[in-house]
Amino acid sequence: MATTQDYAFGEFTFPRGWFMIADASELKDSPLAVRFFGNDFALYRGQSGRVVLLDAYCPHMGTHLAQGGTSYVVQDGLHIDGDSIRCPYHNWRFGSDGRCNHIPYFNGPIPKNARVKSWPVIERYGCIFVWHDPEGGEPDYDFPTIEEWGDPAWVRWKLDDLGTLNVHPIEVVDNMADVRHLGPIHGSTVEYFENVFERHVCIQYQGGGHRTMVGSDKMLETDTWYMGPGLLFSRIRGAYDALQLIMHTPIEDGVIKAWQGLIVKSAHEVASEADVAIARACQETSRLALVQDFEIWANKRPAFQFLQLPNDGPIHKVRTWYRQFYHPKDRAAEFWREVEGVHTVRGVAPAPQKRLAGLLAGGN
Ligand code: FES
Ligand SMILES: [Fe+2]
Repeated sequence: MATTQDYAFGEFTFPRGWFMIADASELKDSPLAVRFFGNDFALYRGQSGRVVLLDAYCPHMGTHLAQGGTSYVVQDGLHIDGDSIRCPYHNWRFGSDGRCNHIPYFNGPIPKNARVKSWPVIERYGCIFVWHDPEGGEPDYDFPTIEEWGDPAWVRWKLDDLGTLNVHPIEVVDNMADVRHLGPIHGSTVEYFENVFERHVCIQYQGGGHRTMVGSDKMLETDTWYMGPGLLFSRIRGAYDALQLIMHTPIEDGVIKAWQGLIVKSAHEVASEADVAIARACQETSRLALVQDFEIWANKRPAFQFLQLPNDGPIHKVRTWYRQFYHPKDRAAEFWREVEGVHTVRGVAPAPQKRLAGLLAGGN
């Protein structure tokens, strides 16, 4: 496994940002045991509907709060109690704030350290996201709003689980500036390409034919941006209008899990069943395009350094931008100064339009 330290990215093992941790449709009546950032968690939906993420291990004797089905706490349907969760071993109950709020056999005051860490989570667009900050700080920026999600003309995604990859997330993020893989891997004709960096956002403007998604003879324009280190949005125009979201989250240092979804604009005010089928077919082409990248990532050796040509695209700039998330928040501006602005590639036309200008001001 190639680790953050191997890439010399900074002092934190896992980056700061919003990350997807589950498809909301997986979260039914039972808690889920999930593992991210080298840490075990109990994830559950409280009876109010609220989603809760707690560190997994009970402070009493170390039981995993979300594992096991034979305990009568679980069999009798007591595992989730209101917005609290009961430990299957001795039935201590923990609230959504992580504090123990009931021990059935003990009348004294509940010890102050009878608690687990509760993590800030939100549910949006059929996904559960966590704010992960090695310094324990509040989110630096609001979770992006997808305006089209509420528009009945748009078909919502059914998320693709892309599985796990034994690759450090930077090898995936490198793609943002890697203009030279677009032809060989995706069959793109690349008529223009440009990167822009602004604080925690890294933008890629790209236009050209795309053999996998629309065929080489049709124009596909993508305005793509990372919002922090783990969420990629891509606004697609051309053969169809769509918004793609690709999400990847570290499980261990050097292992990630990934998902993707595509919402697609239909030709009608309210999307029909036929529109849903068209949208699913579009999403499948975007999944197949990702499979082309994943096959490379799954089999390559880590690129701690590379033999960069002057017209390879500003991949080193992406790496510098990405390092901000592995350092204390108050040092982020050092990295912004090194990369901020527009970066073009020698021999490739720049973006004719900068549709994402003002992205940060606009809130997503
Ligand atoms: S180990 Fe959890 S209540 Fe005892
Ligand atoms: Fe790619």
